[in-house]
Amino acid sequence: MDKSTCLEVKGLSKWFGGLAANLDIDFSVEEGEIVSVIGPNGAGKSTLFNCITGFYKPNSGKVSFFGKDITKFRADKVCNLGIARTFQIVQVISDMTVLENVVTGALLRYTRIGPATEKAEEILTFTGLIDKKSFLGSELTIADKKRLEVSMALATQPRLLMLDESMAGLTIVELRNIMNLIKKIRDQGMTLIVVEHVMEAVMEISDRVIVLNSGKKIMEGLPKEVVSCQEVIQAYLGDKYRAVC
Ligand SMILES: Nc1ncnc2c1ncn2[C@@H]1O[C@H](COP(=O)(O)OP(=O)(O)OP(=O)(O)O)[C@@H](O)[C@H]1O
Ligand SMILES: [Mg+2]
Repeated sequence: MDKSTCLEVKGLSKWFGGLAANLDIDFSVEEGEIVSVIGPNGAGKSTLFNCITGFYKPNSGKVSFFGKDITKFRADKVCNLGIARTFQIVQVISDMTVLENVVTGALLRYTRIGPATEKAEEILTFTGLIDKKSFLGSELTIADKKRLEVSMALATQPRLLMLDESMAGLTIVELRNIMNLIKKIRDQGMTLIVVEHVMEAVMEISDRVIVLNSGKKIMEGLPKEVVSCQEVIQAYLGDKYRAVC
């Protein structure tokens, strides 16, 4: 079956004063792929997410989602069209329960609370948080907060899910759990773009990897191509990871 292009980014630039946080970035993502975006701190990964999802307006360039130009769309409209994202700093609502948090996402697609709650429970079962549905957001561990954010994003029933550092600060076991969840989401046919620093995870889950450095895309390729590229090693990975490979 022919896959269609889910997302296409062309010549995207975003300036903050004299700083180009994103400079002339081109890439595309095919339906059903997991594409990782890596790069050192300040490389422009979160800015790229913000430009794609309507939280920032790029200064130039174009973002297309299944062929539709969404460059000037506001964040809520982008979400409505089917792009959901999580945030590097988790954005769960602390004084609402886990279930209520997910229902807020589901209400994008349902006008009545009953069906929205049913959908939220189905998603919490899928993501493994159903036993904690009555916990307050504030009562969760960081790993569960990240899992809740993914659940909230899934509740909007996206066609593209963008995860900004869902694995940062997790233990090895928690890391393995979230990687398994990402694979399970992909197995359901979802397209994913993932910003990640944990290279072992990037290597395992990605179909392709895009490398940013100082706002520019410096490479794009298969995970094994990226980790053996001299420029990427110098910009980001350092000799430590080369030794592992
Ligand atoms: N709202 C903003 N105003 C001014 N500068 C910003 C803003 N957002 C990001 N920047 C700057 O843009 C550059 C890219 O930042 P960004 O957060 O996109 O990097 P990142 O690759 O996500 O880094 P990290 O790995 O630390 O999350 C940085 O120099 C940052 O300081
Ligand atoms: Mg970031």
